[in-house]
Amino acid sequence: MAEQKSKPALLGGSKTVDIDYGDMFVWPIITDEDRQAAIEVLNAGNMSGMDISKKFEDEFKQWIGSKYALTCPNGTSALQEAMFAVGLGVGDEMIAPSMTYWASVLQVYSLGATVNFAEVDPETLCIDPADIEKRITDRTKAIMVVHYLSSPCDMDPIMEIAKKHNLKVIEDVSHAQGSLYKGKQLGTIGHVGAMSMMTAKSFAIGEAGMLVTDDRGIYERSIMFGHYLRQEDPDTITDPQLKSQVGLPLGGYKNRLNQMTSAIGRVQLKYYPQRIAEIDKAMNYFWDQLEGLSGIRPQRPAKDSGHYKGGWYCPAGLYFPEQLGGLSAIRFCQALQAEGVNDAIAGLNKPLHLHPVFNTVDIYGHGKATRSANSDRDLAQGEGSLPVTEAISKRIVRIPHFKHYRPEIIDLYVAAYKKVIENYQDLLADDNGNDDEVGGWNLSHTKKK
Ligand SMILES: Cc1ncc(COP(=O)(O)O)c(C=O)c1O
Repeated sequence: MAEQKSKPALLGGSKTVDIDYGDMFVWPIITDEDRQAAIEVLNAGNMSGMDISKKFEDEFKQWIGSKYALTCPNGTSALQEAMFAVGLGVGDEMIAPSMTYWASVLQVYSLGATVNFAEVDPETLCIDPADIEKRITDRTKAIMVVHYLSSPCDMDPIMEIAKKHNLKVIEDVSHAQGSLYKGKQLGTIGHVGAMSMMTAKSFAIGEAGMLVTDDRGIYERSIMFGHYLRQEDPDTITDPQLKSQVGLPLGGYKNRLNQMTSAIGRVQLKYYPQRIAEIDKAMNYFWDQLEGLSGIRPQRPAKDSGHYKGGWYCPAGLYFPEQLGGLSAIRFCQALQAEGVNDAIAGLNKPLHLHPVFNTVDIYGHGKATRSANSDRDLAQGEGSLPVTEAISKRIVRIPHFKHYRPEIIDLYVAAYKKVIENYQDLLADDNGNDDEVGGWNLSHTKKK
């Protein structure tokens, strides 16, 4: 006799994940060593110094494999510094993906420059190299690549395009500390890497940022932009032109990181490789068991590619509603949430190019939209201009982010996915479809009910 299918919890069946999962999802992992490090800085009254931050930078650059590293108060400031440091200025254009958080891009306006959005690849969710080349004009100065959800961008063709057209490549590594492209650390392939280290990120220490580069000129321009006290060290600024300008930050920003955060960063870095290795093992264990099911496919690099997802920030699956009778991503996630999978959320970032700030908003009083005013040509990209990017949120579902390899707990989550997929036909009845609200302007948007 055929085995009886169990009823989905959303339709009155019993919940699959009905356990105390303890610290399975707690991140970052904070121990007494972190607490002690912060207290020592506090007790010494050393919050605004630079000695601990410099030690953190030394350790970070050794780990990531770059010549220089510079701490910043957050990823937004590190990325803005990187944009300035590669020479983006008045009238210049930067090519960037639209499927990202605003701080990969929006600061470019403050430099008098603007953005031209390119498509992303629907599997890696990262900028599509083939679409970059089409968008290059004589105003293009830089490409911003975002290693989205810890996935490495396809860096070889991107670096080739950059070389051919004499462009600089900035890597936004906010989602991807420790990720590898063909075995190489992200952030060290382009001309400069910059990243957030905010609490929710893979490398998570509160509010913090880091810039890494092998290029002395980029490093010195970054310091000139927002680190006025560092300029005073006679060995730091060697470029004769910059040397004549030391004393004040050229950008008018003060980008010094609080040293309590640097102290915690030093502790976190010691344990980071082993902690993300455990995440990798747990996430692959989960996906391996779902391999071959209808409706969902892992968003992860192919085995033996040399690519690696550092920390699996905001893990997601590629969702194929057509394999489940058209079941909407929202309904699929509702069913999973009823099974106890709290992190099942449909959609990702809303595409930036559809927000008014990238279309109509006149921020600085040019009398026209800032995006176009900064370039003097109409750059607005309305609905339908980036079809791959615009379709993604209905084809992506976020999945649980396991921080520990505990098969007995992960197995329950696997069972929940299997149950929902097996019963998809019964779930179609009350499916109201995806609403326009699928996704959000950042990745912490509230769960859709
Ligand atoms: C891709 C990306 N870039 C930049 C940032 C900005 O970093 P921060 O919030 O530390 O300023 C974030 C996140 O917050 C991000 O997700």
